[in-house]
Amino acid sequence: MSADVAKQNAAAAAVALVGDGMRLGLGTGTTAAHFIRLLGERVRAGLKVQGVPTSEATRRLAETHGVPLMDPDTVEVLDLAIDGADEIDAQFNLIKGGGGALLREKIVAAAARRFVVISDDSKLVSKLGRFPLPVEVTPFAVGLTARRVGAALRAAGCPRDHVSVRMAGPTAKPFVTDGGNVILDCACAEIPDAAALAAALAAIPGVVDHGLFIGMTRDVIIGDAQGARPLSKAA
Ligand code: 5RP
Repeated sequence: MSADVAKQNAAAAAVALVGDGMRLGLGTGTTAAHFIRLLGERVRAGLKVQGVPTSEATRRLAETHGVPLMDPDTVEVLDLAIDGADEIDAQFNLIKGGGGALLREKIVAAAARRFVVISDDSKLVSKLGRFPLPVEVTPFAVGLTARRVGAALRAAGCPRDHVSVRMAGPTAKPFVTDGGNVILDCACAEIPDAAALAAALAAIPGVVDHGLFIGMTRDVIIGDAQGARPLSKAA
């Protein structure tokens, strides 16, 4: 079974949650892209929604599929946000930012009454940290900030502390986020206490935000070859 079919099935289950008049957060990545494409089909069939995209790539995709967008500045609260994830633990804490959109993704998810994560089951983990944790930082003094991030990983008890600036493809130039920042990818191997590391990273000057989404969702939909199943958050 291809992961793409599983992602499509998770996205289809999420589209079924969308009701007329909803204001939606639109995630970034391949799984969220399926959601946007399927949402576009429902819009063409008459559904009325407005979306807030979490990246410029998602904005372009939503426009391509005819999903109406709203100005993020005017948002008070969103009814529903849908996004993928890079890792999901048993408490539904997440690593996000593999696509470099973690800052807007977190702002939009935090503005939603309900944040639903869609995924195939390869993203489910017992402990976060195998996927390198993305940390968005200002370009100024990036080496200094990277060393402080490495120190935070060690202080948090991570078995590894390798921090590297994400590069943009074959250009040998740093990847630049939609907000004009750069991403540090942190190979930690395992994060013993994700909430503690999240707090430590947030306290470092120069860190704009990090890819740990702690306690932000109660809803995960896992797609497979047959369909999709909602998971309940462990107590
Ligand atoms: C982008 C993200 C994505 O949601 C995450 O990388 C998962 O991507 P995909 O759906 O392509 O597997 O956080 O910043």
